[in-house]
Amino acid sequence: MSTISLSRQSLRRQAYRMSTALTPRLTSRFRTLDPVSRQRLSAFQRDYYKNVTDEGDLDAALDGALAEDRYANIPWLDAALPLDGARVLEIGSGTGESTLALAEQGATVTGLDVDENALGVGRERCRLHGLDADLRVGNAADIGRIFAGQTFDAVIFFASLEHMTLDERLSAIADSWALLRPGGIWSVIEAPNRLWFWDGHTSMDNFYNWLPDEVAARWAHKAARKPFADDFPAGQVFDSIKLARWGRGVSYHEFDLVFGDARRLDVVSNKTDFLRRTNPVMLAHSLVSKGRRYERFLESIAPDVDKGFLRQYLDIIIRKPAAP
Ligand SMILES: C[S@@+](CC[C@H](N)C(=O)[O-])C[C@H]1O[C@@H](n2cnc3c(N)ncnc32)[C@H](O)[C@@H]1O
Repeated sequence: MSTISLSRQSLRRQAYRMSTALTPRLTSRFRTLDPVSRQRLSAFQRDYYKNVTDEGDLDAALDGALAEDRYANIPWLDAALPLDGARVLEIGSGTGESTLALAEQGATVTGLDVDENALGVGRERCRLHGLDADLRVGNAADIGRIFAGQTFDAVIFFASLEHMTLDERLSAIADSWALLRPGGIWSVIEAPNRLWFWDGHTSMDNFYNWLPDEVAARWAHKAARKPFADDFPAGQVFDSIKLARWGRGVSYHEFDLVFGDARRLDVVSNKTDFLRRTNPVMLAHSLVSKGRRYERFLESIAPDVDKGFLRQYLDIIIRKPAAP
């Protein structure tokens, strides 16, 4: 990733701070680390990310993710459901930046991830920040069994749904919905939209999310994002799990498959439009962006589909109907 796109990321993070939704109630709860703890966490993280050489990927992993969560994701989620005291099931909690961002706001977080080593970093991150979270190893496809008998106020697929196979996605969506209390919120965050022309998540190439998986895997060695391309040498046998773990687009079609008709879901908020409403910088950017023109095009051909499914990323909050 180039220095230009790296500084665009930092500019975006600066812009997030202009949001009117970023209230003192939220910012006053951000926890900071003393220098010794910071060094310890940094060593832990660098060990986990030792094979990551891409500058942009490392930046996102070490500092970027937490900043995005604190300044963009948390104000948006908290506006739909106050996080203080909420019982949150976080699916794909990974190395715990998102877990920390939720827990420091007072949420009781139960996290799940397939990657035991990532959870180790997540546990250390929470411990060093003086926070407690129940982090468990397991596949999202098994949550019905793992959390049988438990109920949550919020279920969040935090940058994780796009990393699952189709079977995992479908059972994880259905089973997590069943674990949600009536009136609770279900959210998917930062899942690249399969309908979008540009893949800014996995390949950094045009049209990549439109390709069927087998074509996507065979073509991957030509992708602009080098670490991804290098992982798929030409002529390799198609490995659907490996491709899924790098991340593939998601669209309203998965929701149609689980719920029968995605248009009947009560999508209470999407992050893109929320940020534009609460942040003048994000609004100004949208007025001149190519992406906004493409959003309008999608809206014109699918006017009955919620706008949250027609943005570059699926960042949506769905409310489960209250009990009759
Ligand atoms: C990009 S990371 C997101 C981590 C964290 N939530 C954050 O936002 O910083 C995606 C995580 O999803 C996890 N994941 C992928 N497929 C999964 C599955 N089927 N079940 C549980 N976790 C999964 C990965 O191991 C990885 O830690």
